[in-house]
Amino acid sequence: MKATFRIQRFDPEKDKKPYYQEYVVEVEPTDRVLDGLNKIKWYQDGTLTYRWSCAHGICGSDGMRINGTNRLACKTLMRDVGDRVTVEPLLGLPIIKDLVVDMEPFFEQYRSIHPYLINDEPPPEGRERLQSIEERERFDDTTKCILCALCTTSCPSFWGDPAYVGPAAIVNAHRFIFDSRDRGAAERLRILNSRHGVWRCHTIYNCTIACPREIQVTRAIAEVKQAILHGEST
Ligand code: SF4
Ligand code: FES
Repeated sequence: MKATFRIQRFDPEKDKKPYYQEYVVEVEPTDRVLDGLNKIKWYQDGTLTYRWSCAHGICGSDGMRINGTNRLACKTLMRDVGDRVTVEPLLGLPIIKDLVVDMEPFFEQYRSIHPYLINDEPPPEGRERLQSIEERERFDDTTKCILCALCTTSCPSFWGDPAYVGPAAIVNAHRFIFDSRDRGAAERLRILNSRHGVWRCHTIYNCTIACPREIQVTRAIAEVKQAILHGEST
């Protein structure tokens, strides 16, 4: 099939504002949008700039808006988007060039919730800190996050308040708050109970719809809110 890609371009060194450029490429219906972008870059216009790495939905680096919806280009088939595809950068983060946004504000929010195991107690002699199947299950869903930012950048609360910690940071806080081996829940809940924390979430569900890992993002946020209100964690 022939597909027309309408791509938002912007080079801050040359352009005053973003503009759209069209390219026509021959693709298979089973090609991914990423394959179309690569054909454009490799054979038509080497200046087109976007991120990707694994091409298999694991690294989380090729998040972009495809026909107005946050998607990973490597997990979106051409047959599902049709023969006219509009591709734009994620919203709410500064554009570095074309489809590449500055992820640093996103990772700053991620780091703010201490996304690592906190436990100063010595581990049991000669073995790991053990968990029951039920204890591991409690936070299984939120271990699947690949930090692609599709949830946070689809959230109107984040667009309105860039200081909002955002769904992805809350998902990663959830992963440790409900881990029976962790002792940092009280500090994370204190951080998330602040002005730009979980209460900025108005249960809009864009995050859950956007997540390519099918994480129940809104439910994770609700569980963190409950933990703040009722002190439930590990
Ligand atoms: Fe991406 Fe889902 Fe993680 Fe959000 S929760 S950063 S959408 S993988
Ligand atoms: Fe790694 Fe798409 S290129 S997730």
